[in-house]
Amino acid sequence: MSLIQSNSIRNIHKLSIAPMMDCTDKHFRMIMRKISSKALLYTEMIVAQSLLYTDKKENFLDFNDEEHPISIQFGGDNPEILREAAQMAQDWGYDEINFNVGCPSPRVCSGNFGASLMKDPDRVAKCIESLKNNCNLPVTIKHRIGVDNADSFNNLNNFVRCISNAGADRFTVHARKAILKGLNPKQNRTIPPLKYDVVKKLKKINSELLIEINGGFTNIDESLKALNDFDGVMIGRSVYKHPLRWSEIDQKIYGINTKPKPASDIIFSLIPYIEKHLNNGGKSWDICKHLINLIEGIPKAKIWRNDISNKSINKELDIKYLLKMTTRLQEMGY
Ligand SMILES: Cc1cc2nc3c(=O)[nH]c(=O)nc-3n(C[C@H](O)[C@H](O)[C@H](O)COP(=O)(O)O)c2cc1C
Repeated sequence: MSLIQSNSIRNIHKLSIAPMMDCTDKHFRMIMRKISSKALLYTEMIVAQSLLYTDKKENFLDFNDEEHPISIQFGGDNPEILREAAQMAQDWGYDEINFNVGCPSPRVCSGNFGASLMKDPDRVAKCIESLKNNCNLPVTIKHRIGVDNADSFNNLNNFVRCISNAGADRFTVHARKAILKGLNPKQNRTIPPLKYDVVKKLKKINSELLIEINGGFTNIDESLKALNDFDGVMIGRSVYKHPLRWSEIDQKIYGINTKPKPASDIIFSLIPYIEKHLNNGGKSWDICKHLINLIEGIPKAKIWRNDISNKSINKELDIKYLLKMTTRLQEMGY
C-alpha cells in the first residue's frame, strides 16, 4: 500500500490546527480538542537546542493525554541536536514530528533556521534524515513557497523533491513566500500574496506526495473545497480567533455523526481541567486568555470577555464564577 493510500485510509490529517507561538500551548490545544476530536494539533515551535540545554524539559514537552493526535514542531539546523530531540519526542509520546522551515522571524533566521533554511535544501535534508533515523515517528515539514528571490517554481519543486528523498512523510506548504529583509513576521503573514495555484501545481506533479495547504483559510466550507486539490488543510489565525467557527470539523471534514458543541458545553467540559490547573497553582489567565475567544456571537460579547479577562488578571476568577457564567451562557442558548 502506498504512503498516500495508507494515510487517506487512516483519514486523520485532513485538517490540522497550525503551530502558533504564544497561542497553541497545551491549554489552547485542550480547548480545540473539545471542539474537534479529530483535527491534528501542533505544539508551538520548540527550538531543539533550547530543549537540549534546559533542565526543565517538561515545560517544553508536557501535554495532556486527550491531545492526541499531536505533532511536535522543532526548529533547528543541527542534525546532531535534532537526533536527540527526535528521541525525546518519541519518549514523551508525541504522534509526529514537524520540522519548521517557514518561520520568517529575524531572531529565528539569525540562528540560520526557520524560513532562511529553504535556501539550503541539503542541510534541511540532513535534518530530516536525522529526525527520521532516530525515532519511529512520521516526520513532516512546514515551509513556504519560496524565500526572497529564491521563489521560482523550480526552486520549490527541487526543494520538495530533495526533502522527500530525505524521507519527509508530509509537506505543509504555507502558500506565500517569506521576505526576510524588510518585513516583520506579522507582515510576512499578510503582505506576500497567497498563491494556492503554485501549491496546486506542486501537488499535481508530485501526486505521490502528501501535500497540505496552509494560509488564509477562514471557514470549513473553504477548507472542504481545498481538500479536492490537497491532502490536508492547516488552519492558523482563524481557528485561534474564532474557534467556534470550526465547531463542525468532526461532522463536515471527518464525517462523524455527532452534534457540534455550543460554547457552554465546551466550557463545562473544561471545568475539571481548569480546576486541576488552579489547584496545582496555575493561573486562571493561562487558560482564560484562550477561552475568551469562545465568547463570540452573543449579545454584549465584548463585555463578557472584558469581565472574564479582568477577573482572571486580577486573580478573582474562580470555578464558582466560571460555572455561573457558563450556566448563563447555556440559558441563553449558547
Ligand atoms: C501568532 C502566530 C504565531 C505563529 N507561530 C508559528 C510557529 O511557531 N511555527 C510555525 O511553523 N508557524 C507559526 N505561525 C504561522 C502559522 O502556523 C501559519 O502558517 C500562518 O498563520 C498562516 O496560516 P493562517 O492564514 O491560517 O493563519 C504563527 C502564526 C501566528 C499568527
